[in-house]
Amino acid sequence: MAHCAWRFGLIRLLALLGLALGAAACQPQTAPAPTTAVTEIPPAPGVTLAAPAGAAGLGDPLYPALGNGGYDVQHYTIDLTVDVARNMLDGVTTITAHAMQPLSAFNLDFSGLTITRVTVNGQSADYRRQGSETTITPLQPLAAGARLTVTVAYRGEPQPIRDPGVPFVPLGWQRFEQGIAVVSEPSGAMNWFPSNNHPADKATFTFRVQVPKPYQVAANGVLADTQDAGSSTTFVWQMTDPMATYLATVHIGRYEVVTATGPGGVTLRHYFPLGTPDTVEARFARIPQMMQFMTERFGPYPFDAYGVALLPVSTGWALETQTLSTYGADGADEAEVFHELMHEWFGNSVSPATWQDVWLNEGFATYFQWLWQEETEGRPAFDATVQQAYAGLVSRRVGPVLPQQPAGMFTAATYQRGACTLHALRLTVGDAVFFQILRTYYERFAGGVASTADFSATAVEVSGQPGVEALLHAWLTSPTLPLLVHIGQQQVYR
Ligand code: TRP
Ligand code: ZN
Repeated sequence: MAHCAWRFGLIRLLALLGLALGAAACQPQTAPAPTTAVTEIPPAPGVTLAAPAGAAGLGDPLYPALGNGGYDVQHYTIDLTVDVARNMLDGVTTITAHAMQPLSAFNLDFSGLTITRVTVNGQSADYRRQGSETTITPLQPLAAGARLTVTVAYRGEPQPIRDPGVPFVPLGWQRFEQGIAVVSEPSGAMNWFPSNNHPADKATFTFRVQVPKPYQVAANGVLADTQDAGSSTTFVWQMTDPMATYLATVHIGRYEVVTATGPGGVTLRHYFPLGTPDTVEARFARIPQMMQFMTERFGPYPFDAYGVALLPVSTGWALETQTLSTYGADGADEAEVFHELMHEWFGNSVSPATWQDVWLNEGFATYFQWLWQEETEGRPAFDATVQQAYAGLVSRRVGPVLPQQPAGMFTAATYQRGACTLHALRLTVGDAVFFQILRTYYERFAGGVASTADFSATAVEVSGQPGVEALLHAWLTSPTLPLLVHIGQQQVYR
């Protein structure tokens, strides 16, 4: 299974060579859709009202324009009527939030679709659009602390987002052959609902999606209601725990729904496209044992349900969409199934404070797929995987874990060097302290967001070793690769 270590690097490499794996899966059936670039938008020009406008971005180091300042979202209700054959949406998104400062205007991230009406607290509001920034000016300025309810009505065919952080797949709502699905990490959510599109502002969600019969809809959380309206069906899904916008998903297709119970009574529900071979379904059979492994180390699975949804076409990737991991038609190998499940704890419950912190998702998930291998195949197999990963980092001269630009986010730097960073920490502080650090970090930030500095501070505090900060700093930021010494077997990896 050691070859799995490079799965993502390989996909990226092929993509860069123009051999984009699974490219067919990414193309809409119709003529290629125009795409929307993620661009930096300057802050809204100064307004003359007493109340200031909310910032147009949250100043993320890699995506300064993503997210918006001045308000905090509590809940999104995304109400969509979908013409599946034409991939057309008719939608209303209702956002409840509170103002964190006086606001004469505020922004939402929303791209492509035609807006037909905007209201704030029940009154029509003016809006203007520039790229993916929509600036909304309520009739009266909002006071700091004010509750606000914003509705945005819109329609059209979503246009996939091209994001330089993910050159291997268009993002957001898109049509795959015979099916519709959403994969958004990091910026794609803004092609199908207006939002504060940054993990720093997590919120709960309701999805109400109406589709013609016989289609079914799967989304994040729990299927709360199914309403039959003759020729169509409305599926109501509730995500009652905080979720980052990039993890929101909707899948539309025809499915065999397979249910089971996981450890602690967690509901498992898998959405397999009709005709999925048993051999593919079997690739997910060990999820309960994997959940048990994570539960023993970090406590119960953090959400109400878990499962996978498969696209009707093969892909070279999978995505940890909250409570409903998204895979291609062939599923994935055991390491990757573990990787996506593991993200529910690290990535989905504890989310990255900025996109530069994405190794807290990918380095962790990669390291834990190695630990799952240690559990199932023994220590020698684990050691071989670590050694091979480290050798790969050396030979490919893989640079710092913390990316300086979007293109560095989903690479061997964040996955394999991120994982080796955790291994170096483990070798330095010992197994017991290492797992205590991870547990404390998880408990402290579950349901919210954490930064690299939060992780480093937790590691120093729990270990009582101030030197751990310099160790992490070197692994995360040094252009050269620190030495990885395996003390247990007196083994030096170069
Ligand atoms: N987070 C995914 C993983 O598990 C990788 C990924 C990032 C991705 N952005 C994506 C996959 C967009 C599909 C679409 O490693
Ligand atoms: Zn991942």
